[in-house]
Amino acid sequence: MLNFEIVNPTRIIFGKDQLDRLPVLIKELSPSKRILFAYGGGSIKKNGLHTKILEKLNEFKIIEFGGIEANPQFNTLMKGVRLAQAEKVDFILAVGGGSVIDGVKFMTGAYFYKGDPWDVLLRKDGCTFDDSLSFGTILTLPATGSEANSGAVISRKELNEKRTMGGPLFFPKFSFLDPTVVSTLPKRQLANGIVDAFMHTLEQYLTYPSGNHLQERQAEAILSTLIEIGPSLTDQPGNYELAANLMWCATHALNGNLRCGVPTDWTTHMIGHELTAFYGIDHARTLAIIAPRLFENQFENKKQKLVQYGKRVWELDGNDDEVAKAAIEKTEQFFQLLEIPTHISDYTDPSPEIAKIIRQRFEERGWTEMGERKAILLSDVESIVAAAI
Ligand code: NZQ
Ligand code: ZN
Repeated sequence: MLNFEIVNPTRIIFGKDQLDRLPVLIKELSPSKRILFAYGGGSIKKNGLHTKILEKLNEFKIIEFGGIEANPQFNTLMKGVRLAQAEKVDFILAVGGGSVIDGVKFMTGAYFYKGDPWDVLLRKDGCTFDDSLSFGTILTLPATGSEANSGAVISRKELNEKRTMGGPLFFPKFSFLDPTVVSTLPKRQLANGIVDAFMHTLEQYLTYPSGNHLQERQAEAILSTLIEIGPSLTDQPGNYELAANLMWCATHALNGNLRCGVPTDWTTHMIGHELTAFYGIDHARTLAIIAPRLFENQFENKKQKLVQYGKRVWELDGNDDEVAKAAIEKTEQFFQLLEIPTHISDYTDPSPEIAKIIRQRFEERGWTEMGERKAILLSDVESIVAAAI
């Protein structure tokens, strides 16, 4: 088992009808009682959550900032930063999925930053966020785990860029996880959520045997639960028990717990972000495109864990090669069962050069040896993308 350190200060309030707690929690965090209420494109207006929140917060001065798009855009978020500064808020409430929550994480850091916050996302020498506003979240889409972690992904369409940021300053102070929000999710977003949580788990599991039996079993528990509930939930999004299980799985998949003491391989996410940056393909779908091809490419390096995964999660029999191969096939079929196609050309007419372009980007960023064994080289990145077209 590898050494590790973990802290997760986010308070989780799980379940339905809990919003009475919202003003109580914010009061502790916002002495000025001036808060920015950030949300996305309007789903919370359609399902009534917007009105409910305003009712609960009637003793606060609320400054609204709607319109944060999926794959939150730097330019939009900077408008929110300027609004928050002009209105001198001391707290931000993020209501939405990963995009709104990530966007708010960025805004809380950019609020205090003196230079161009894009430099922080580019990791220019010495550019970091040193301070942040406090913020809390009300999650409306179980998928990313952003409600319980300190990472964020910010996009800039005009540059075809999607960049990550994070650090201890960016844990939400609290997150409300109410599974009833799932009932209004379009099937596409629900399937995305299942696949994103599934892939967060696999990226911290499909490496080599870690000797951390607890963490490996916990990963397998999440995978098995998602396989069990996923297809039924997309058919009945109003089923509270299924929705609650997805929500709790998605949070656990990326709240820091699964990475304790184990090797990880986030290459599928790294390549996937490029596909979103270039083609706007939904985040989870990029993972479904890349993962099966990456597992095939890294078959020998990941074989022991593929076999463990195949036997324990998919209950497969056979020799090691058969089980490992079938485990990859089962994974791809699971994505397809959720109506998530697994090739780039299913979504767009890709440039024949895309594999080379992504390889070149990785090279420019110095990402030349990836994966748990540093065995995924630039040539592999190019092959994986080419095979995924
Ligand atoms: O904007 P609105 O109108 O709210 O609609 C949203 C959006 O169009 C809709 N939606 C959300 N909740 C809903 C709802 N529609 C009906 N009913 C509800 N209850 O769903 C659409 C997608 O929302 P979005 O927030 O973009 O989805 P998701 O949660 O999948 O977030 C994706 C973003 O998170 C990043 C991704 O890269 C992407 O930018 N990620 C963040 C991570 C993190 N912070 O830890 C890790 C992930 O790997 C991921 O990279
Ligand atoms: Zn993800």
